[in-house]
Amino acid sequence: MTHSNPIIAEMFDAQQFADTGHQLIDLLAAHLKANIAGTSKVLNWKMPSLEDKHWHAPIPQKSTIHPQGLLEKLSQEILPNNLAIHHPHNIGHQVACPLPMSALCDLVASLTNQAMAVYEAGPSATMLERQVVRWLCALINESTWNNAGGVLTSGGAQANLTALLVARQVSTSKANPSSNIWKDGIAQQSALRILASEHAHYSVSRAAGIMGLGTDSVIKIATDKNGKLDLKALQNAHQTCLENQETILAVVANAGCTPTGSIDPLQAIGEYCQAHELWFHVDGAHGASALLSGIHREKLSGIALADSVVWDGHKLMYMPAAVSAVLFKNEQHSYAAFSQDASYLFQGDTHEDEAFNLSYRTLECTKRMMALKLWAAFSLYGTAGMGALVDEAFAKAKTFAEKIQEQSNVELLMKPETNIVCFKYLHDYSNQAQANKHQSDIRQHIIQSGAFHITQVDLHGVIWLRTTLMNPFTTEQDLDELLARVALAAQAVLSMAE
Ligand SMILES: Cc1ncc(COP(=O)(O)O)c(C=O)c1O
Repeated sequence: MTHSNPIIAEMFDAQQFADTGHQLIDLLAAHLKANIAGTSKVLNWKMPSLEDKHWHAPIPQKSTIHPQGLLEKLSQEILPNNLAIHHPHNIGHQVACPLPMSALCDLVASLTNQAMAVYEAGPSATMLERQVVRWLCALINESTWNNAGGVLTSGGAQANLTALLVARQVSTSKANPSSNIWKDGIAQQSALRILASEHAHYSVSRAAGIMGLGTDSVIKIATDKNGKLDLKALQNAHQTCLENQETILAVVANAGCTPTGSIDPLQAIGEYCQAHELWFHVDGAHGASALLSGIHREKLSGIALADSVVWDGHKLMYMPAAVSAVLFKNEQHSYAAFSQDASYLFQGDTHEDEAFNLSYRTLECTKRMMALKLWAAFSLYGTAGMGALVDEAFAKAKTFAEKIQEQSNVELLMKPETNIVCFKYLHDYSNQAQANKHQSDIRQHIIQSGAFHITQVDLHGVIWLRTTLMNPFTTEQDLDELLARVALAAQAVLSMAE
């Protein structure tokens, strides 16, 4: 059937979709192959303020390109000016180079547009999500997490917010059974606190801001020299809160933390939380995927003691962004985040039916069918395949750290526990500010050259160069080349300053 309006007929032309789609897949496959081969720059650096000037065209009133022109624009302008995510020198952010088959599944999610707020707006999407969530809970612990559940959200930041909303509801009603913070707001509450590692992702303090607690309600707990939460500091902070008659909503631990990938002592923190009836939240956005690895799983020992866990798919599960899971040891808790009356959506009168209407438990009303790509990856490659990616990433980080230690012109921050390696260039600096500026300048020099993509992190006033090794195509030679580039960039930056 075709539409009488030619423009609408063209918009929904299945044949055009197929013809352009086949060419698009060929284009993307060639792009993927070239990226992996690393033949071009990892980043085609342009000053954003200058680049922005090219993107001020008036909104088209009529068609300005045909599908062929769209493909040309993609291949000539858009793809070459993106960060080449599958390039072996892309070792900056904790963003996966996605599995191509999962990326294909994302196309399915786009075309079928299952809204997912309620079961009927995405029946198989809902079932896929429930299946994937069950798998992730079983990976945490098959026996103690047998009543667990949760939902998928668009990203770890939103997942952390969702978990902390639950913690807020549960912890305040435990402290005062007649209170309902969701309904009454925070005004009647005593001071509310979140105890979180000083390395907690910024989404934790942002969640506190969003929840109206104020970002100062997050008490930062010191870490040791390996970036792990110091249990004694946690106990002291807890004690101070008790003395001040403050209510602790949650203790937030990292598995692993954003700056260094370090994993907090989950077993000890979990036991402490259990003994003191504190909500234990593990932000495993980055590192929970170690559960997939037979070798590294042990590092997460104690994670099953958590009341809530966040786990990102678009990090070490190699998914296209965004897909994150927020998981609760007691599935019923996941209903505590949002408690809303929306009769146009939710009509079932038995709890059993309502369990299939996922938006009871998510900030999103309409959300993307996120589970398909994860379900497909597990189905195609199994936990063995997914775990192999984690093993590869962690082994590469270890190798890189060893290479850094062998060189006298760079210093390793710490032995990596996961796949994040931080180091700095050594020179005879006159003060810390100069040393910091030099590290930042080295990084800028490297990323603007397009040779590598790396990041930096400020830890207690010291700037370190930061790499996240999760690209399976990064070789030892690439890592040697990075260290050589750092030395060259260091000299170049110094001579420019003279
Ligand atoms: C530990 C941790 N938690 C949460 C987040 C936020 O996740 P997302 O970027 O998926 O929102 C990040 C992001 O890097 C992270 O490293």
